Amino acid sequence: MKFTKKIAFSVMLIAGISSANAQKFEGLAKTPPMGWNSWNKFACNVSEQLIKETADAMVSSGMKDAGYEYVVIDDCWQVKRDSLGFIVADPDRFPSGIKALADYIHSKGLKFGIYSCAGAQTCGGRPASRGHEYQDALSYAKWGVDYLKYDWCFTENLNAKGAYTTMRDALYSAGRPIVFSLCEWGDNKPWLWADKVGHLWRTTGDIYNCFDCVKDHGTWKSWGVMQILDKQEGLRQYAGPGHWNDPDMMQVGNGMPVNQERAHFTMWAMLAAPLISGNDLRNMSSETLNVLTNKEVIEINQDTLGIQGFKYAVKDSVETWLKPLKNNEWALVYLNRSKSQKSISVDWKNFRVNDEFSGRLFDTTTKDIFIVRDLWLKKVIGDTRKTLQATIAGEDVLCLKISKKPVKKQK
Ligand code: GLA
Repeated sequence: MKFTKKIAFSVMLIAGISSANAQKFEGLAKTPPMGWNSWNKFACNVSEQLIKETADAMVSSGMKDAGYEYVVIDDCWQVKRDSLGFIVADPDRFPSGIKALADYIHSKGLKFGIYSCAGAQTCGGRPASRGHEYQDALSYAKWGVDYLKYDWCFTENLNAKGAYTTMRDALYSAGRPIVFSLCEWGDNKPWLWADKVGHLWRTTGDIYNCFDCVKDHGTWKSWGVMQILDKQEGLRQYAGPGHWNDPDMMQVGNGMPVNQERAHFTMWAMLAAPLISGNDLRNMSSETLNVLTNKEVIEINQDTLGIQGFKYAVKDSVETWLKPLKNNEWALVYLNRSKSQKSISVDWKNFRVNDEFSGRLFDTTTKDIFIVRDLWLKKVIGDTRKTLQATIAGEDVLCLKISKKPVKKQK
């Protein structure tokens, strides 16, 4: 046994910790986590100043009020291990240390997240947690970490379920409730085993900053928004309160035109995906901010039933998506995947969908009247007595909420 491993092991013994009863922390992430992560925009260019300014901007921009909560530093905050094997933050970029940074974020009423990896090194080549899981979990607990994203690089010969369970147990033993975000890219089908291990799991490789493209890096690929969306097929039954499919952090605000941003954000809402922004919150256009803080679309995502939406139909490049919501309401989204404008006609008199998975029925064929609200126009656009005619710009959405009209009581 290596010296550092021995220390971690002794720390466990001294603390009287046994992983026999370990489990994931229950009661966390009852709705999809919302926050910000440094990777998509800043990659390894992270610092204490950036993270603090981001936390400030999350509050001053109104994102916190809209529900964003976690401020997560991704890779490259760490540089080495000390002589006892404890992880050390980059002293040039984080001169006040991680604890002070976590305190700052907490003082803003926000929560603090950090990144590590199950392998020997992180994807960015920094020291990772393999063989140091309990020790790292103790550091995180001591610093006041609330969220851990745990990656999957340099994991030769590791069993994914085993490696993630080890970190789960380590976090549990350290005693501080931490949302555990598995970033294993879907390689080992985490949806089949991770609901007992973590609170969210990546379902795909990395998102790329484009709406509809594949970026080939040679040995690996990253995926546009539409490519990631397609990879969610067949996964909805695995998501629910406390355990979410994670189609990766958002690229909203990183350069896409607003129609694509709106479509991206709406589809992440429909997928009950974690809403982790990945742009520079200090310098956002008002268009981007309006997308990220559309409270009615966020409500669809944060609906407490926690039922992931599903694609119901495709016609002429326009997809129809449905998501059951509490109070027997539904979100209904038309996603125009083509680059040209499309016209649609919604014939409510013939619209009846039985969602077997949720046991819920979408049915506007009855005598009941339903109100149709456009969540981007932020207004009621009619009801189900009249066929809806609409046009949808290329690579954009029509996002509707369908609610039963209350019956007026007779006097
Ligand atoms: C992997 C992850 C990304 C990011 C980088 C950091 O590629 O999937 O989300 O965390 O590593 O190096």
